[in-house]
Amino acid sequence: MKPLKVGLLGLGVVGGGVWNVLSRNGGEIARRAGRSIEVSRIAVRDMARARSKVGDAAAITTDPFEVVRDPEIDIVVELIGGYTLALELVREAIAQGKHVVTANKALLACHGNELFAAAREKGVMLVYEAAVAGGIPIIKALREGLSANRINWLAGIINGTTNFILSEMRSRGLSFEAALADAQRLGYAEADPTFDIEGVDAAHKLTLLASMAFGVPVQFDRAHVEGISKLAQEDIVHAENLGYRIKLLGITKLRPDGIELRVHPTLIPEGRLLANVEGAMNAVLVHGDAVGPTLYYGQGAGEEPTASAVIADLVDVARLQGAAPEQRVPYLAFQHDAMADTPI
Ligand code: NDP
Ligand code: HSE
Repeated sequence: MKPLKVGLLGLGVVGGGVWNVLSRNGGEIARRAGRSIEVSRIAVRDMARARSKVGDAAAITTDPFEVVRDPEIDIVVELIGGYTLALELVREAIAQGKHVVTANKALLACHGNELFAAAREKGVMLVYEAAVAGGIPIIKALREGLSANRINWLAGIINGTTNFILSEMRSRGLSFEAALADAQRLGYAEADPTFDIEGVDAAHKLTLLASMAFGVPVQFDRAHVEGISKLAQEDIVHAENLGYRIKLLGITKLRPDGIELRVHPTLIPEGRLLANVEGAMNAVLVHGDAVGPTLYYGQGAGEEPTASAVIADLVDVARLQGAAPEQRVPYLAFQHDAMADTPI
């Protein structure tokens, strides 16, 4: 079978991780996908830096539209970030009839309704496992493993940077600023870290989770959002003295009058599972009416954990590329249109 030809937009933390994991595990990934997955074109700003990472193994350009419009490319992987250029690129990729994988939760939380509708119309897949909770396959769990359930609620730690900062402040007594600088150095933080510390990134992810769990459109503007920037070291110490840990939680619940969507720092008794999720780890508790509570735990940010999720999406696309469009429907959001009008 012909290889799946990938156009990679961005070779930073996540894009670099995708390149490394595909290079290292290409044989196993090809066996699972049923064909090989080849990154044949890459778009970046700094050609020399990209060349030093990938050598001559792929064509590099500074014009991402060249990649998106290349007829040889089957699938575009958007790992540039932000809402402006990324939006134009994803729109164009879909218009060109290409499947898209993205890790860009900001883009999907703010423009997902338009983009999913466009993808559905074109019969292409727009998939985003890496956009929520890094390497944890939470989108797959909601789409496939829990598909028998009516989801009652979900709650979790879905931002690695803030969990890392809170953990470092508590366990090592680091200042907020020093812990944030470490999170940036380790590649966990967003390009603009206020998205992390003010809870916006977690709210982007929660919006996507709620959309998948409840089958409603993406409604980021309805979320209550509060971050950790007002927390001081003494808040963390007082909480600990009282037997609690402070965690930034995203919570969404199905209520009789609509869906609740909120992100805020939360006191959790120290014996609870979520209280013991440390560093850049994420954890999501999902309660389904049939299965009861289930827990998903793993690395929520960083190079290779996020690449793991991006490549899992590539494998899905490789398997389904030639399939009838109706077989791809579960890979688009909002299949449960019955609830589409439920207020948030
Ligand atoms: P980086 O800043 O590390 O990488 C961005 C990449 O995009 C760089 O290679 C950069 O090129 C390239 N780029 C930026 N602007 C342009 C442009 N105008 N034309 C061509 N290339 C461009 O970001 P991350 O890898 O950390 O994040 C990428 C996406 O993944 C974001 O949406 C982020 O939210 C998401 N994400 C990140 C995670 C993480 O842990 N870091 C985890 C989950 C999702 P150059 O290298 O030349 O500057
Ligand atoms: N900045 C994000 C975080 C990256 O810290 O969780 C992963 O989405």
